[in-house]
Amino acid sequence: MDLVTALARARSAEEPGPDTPAAPPVPDWPGDARCLSRAGPGELDLWWLLRLSLAAQDGAGRLRPVPSAGGLHPVDAQLVVGADCPLPSGRYGYDPLRHRVHLLGPAPDDAPPGAAVELSVTPRRTVSHYGHRAWPLMLLDTGHAAAALRLAARALGAGPPTLGLDGRAERPLASLHFTPPGGPRRVADAPAPRDLLARRSARPPLRGVPSRDVLRTVLATLADASAGEVAWCAAVGEPRPELVELSPDGSLRRLASGEARPTLAAWAAGQGWIADAGAVLLGYGCPTDADAPRIRRAHLRAGFAVGLAHVAAGRLGVASRPVGSWQQADLGAALGAAPGRDWIVHGLALGTTHPKEGIP
Ligand SMILES: Cc1cc2nc3c(=O)[nH]c(=O)nc-3n(C[C@H](O)[C@H](O)[C@H](O)COP(=O)(O)O)c2cc1C
Repeated sequence: MDLVTALARARSAEEPGPDTPAAPPVPDWPGDARCLSRAGPGELDLWWLLRLSLAAQDGAGRLRPVPSAGGLHPVDAQLVVGADCPLPSGRYGYDPLRHRVHLLGPAPDDAPPGAAVELSVTPRRTVSHYGHRAWPLMLLDTGHAAAALRLAARALGAGPPTLGLDGRAERPLASLHFTPPGGPRRVADAPAPRDLLARRSARPPLRGVPSRDVLRTVLATLADASAGEVAWCAAVGEPRPELVELSPDGSLRRLASGEARPTLAAWAAGQGWIADAGAVLLGYGCPTDADAPRIRRAHLRAGFAVGLAHVAAGRLGVASRPVGSWQQADLGAALGAAPGRDWIVHGLALGTTHPKEGIP
């Protein structure tokens, strides 16, 4: 698959065709399913880590804790388990519907203590609905899955994982290595496990402009998590429509004045509700001449950042919904800069007057 061509086509005005059959929600892992036993003292708690991030919450597997474009969940996980885990060392395939694992083979001899969760995608799940628009969405979905694992580790008081989001490979697309706990830890400002399980994308309409403080906090979360791969700004609605970004001193500075949301709605596959959203946070970059590793990196990081920001917004009492499908969305050119440099990669719509749903 040529990702450069796939992204150019996904960004074009071409409409996807009718739905095609989807792939099964879980790979056909070989061998018997085995339970993830509960962690003993000093062991990495894989049971809870996966329960709070990737395990399905209903039999059909649609309501996983992590958001997914169209609820199609293309991301599959393999575990590379070393010492100090409640499973013998080895490589395992994870079944999110049954919350069980299948032994696939030995772990490498040099596997460090703890476990790595490696994320890949089964394209046919997302392609079945989004057709040629699927690739950027699947990369974003993988970033969201990485964020869900990161948040689960925080909620469990585990140390932060080592992130592998460099975009170098297609398989796995991403990996996160978790070390076993060195003893009980308190993680400042950690989300509660129930917040992660209750997380939902708020259903539109999402009206009401969040406060400047909320915008600053959520933009800072996005910037921190993106490692410079994408830049962020916010299109704010009435009464003072404008485009703002976070300046280095932490204040908001105006990039442009005027109403951007109807244009954003048109660029986002014509989703009219975006024109009424209180604010739309926008991640942009990934120029037309980006090669495949850079495309992967930008989308993985954007998904990771929006995954964290979506939960951060909920904790601030603001409803939010990711927005992933963007066509002809050359934000830089629309603001008068050179074309082809600053494409919108991902978005997060925010609202304050939304009913309680979507706010953990
Ligand atoms: C990468 C990505 C892109 C998404 N794009 C859109 C979108 O364009 N419009 C929309 O309404 N929802 C979008 N969503 C939200 C999904 O529809 C939602 O996560 C899914 O239906 C599952 O619902 P839940 O998040 O409440 O569990 C997106 C989610 C992700 C992860």
